[in-house]
Amino acid sequence: MRKHPIIQMVLIGALASAIGIALALWINWFPADAAKQDKPIDTLYDVLMIVSVPIFVLVTTVVLYSVWRFRMRPGQELEDGPPIHGNTRLEVVWTAVPAIILVSLCSYAYAVLHDIETTHANELVVQVTAQQFAWSYAYPGTGGKTVSSDQLYLPKGRPIRFDVRTKDVLHDFWVPAFRVKIDTVPGITTHVRVTPTRSGTYPVVCAELCGLGHATMRSTAHVVSPAQFDRWLAKQGAPAPAAGGGEPSGTQLADLGKQTFTGDGGCGGCHTLADAGTSGTVGPDLGTALKGRDEAFIRTSIVDPNAVIAKGYQPNVMPADFGQRLSQAQLDGLVAYLATVSK
Ligand code: CUA
Repeated sequence: MRKHPIIQMVLIGALASAIGIALALWINWFPADAAKQDKPIDTLYDVLMIVSVPIFVLVTTVVLYSVWRFRMRPGQELEDGPPIHGNTRLEVVWTAVPAIILVSLCSYAYAVLHDIETTHANELVVQVTAQQFAWSYAYPGTGGKTVSSDQLYLPKGRPIRFDVRTKDVLHDFWVPAFRVKIDTVPGITTHVRVTPTRSGTYPVVCAELCGLGHATMRSTAHVVSPAQFDRWLAKQGAPAPAAGGGEPSGTQLADLGKQTFTGDGGCGGCHTLADAGTSGTVGPDLGTALKGRDEAFIRTSIVDPNAVIAKGYQPNVMPADFGQRLSQAQLDGLVAYLATVSK
């Protein structure tokens, strides 16, 4: 009779663990892998599951079994339990075993982290900049120039180091297909490494709650062949409209404004604007909110967004520092562009 409940519990626990592990390994937790770093991380995840499920089952089984088997029966209301003075052997075991498991798993996880963060001599350094609510990227171009883009292009097979910064609050740079992610922290530069192994397009996600537009803070990573990447980089490096000397024409200004709207400025993350193809819903639809407004109103709305709040929207949602974030040309461009589309 004394062994009976233990054997029952072990049998139930073994069966539940087997089902739990099978389920945990069967579920596809992650998107298809697209980087060299994925395999070791996925294996680590599987090992953690295999170890965690039996522990969860053990604790749950003991609790449930004790509740059922040792429950209070009618007439026992005033009885005290048997006096217990501890069990040294049991206590040593249940301290030592979890300690061994934890130290082993931490060592393994550290080894994986060390492995995926190995530096490579031919790394391509990509500057990643986060701001509410958009991502922008900068690459070393020819002749020491920097090439900026709101799309992330990466050559397949080349080790990449991302230098990650933020212009405002905490964000988190995450490409689920690469598994790795890193916080962007005001005032410091954080780093993360991947080597893309599969061509395709993958979502870039902000994984840190950073404000009302957090959910819209997305962009796309394009993994392409090294030759395609070089062509793309050369094209981006070509002189941009309205750059350099001479007064930019009105059309050039509006073009720059449209680029700023969808890209570096991050406006499209929060505002719907049919002409720019954006669908953000944090702020008002600018196609209707700016209808018939003049350039002065538009400029004020960008640099001092609380001056006039559109009906149905709250003050202090739109960052009030666009006057400092945007270059003069970008600001002029935005005003010109928005004035054109709101006519
Ligand atoms: Cu940026 Cu969430």
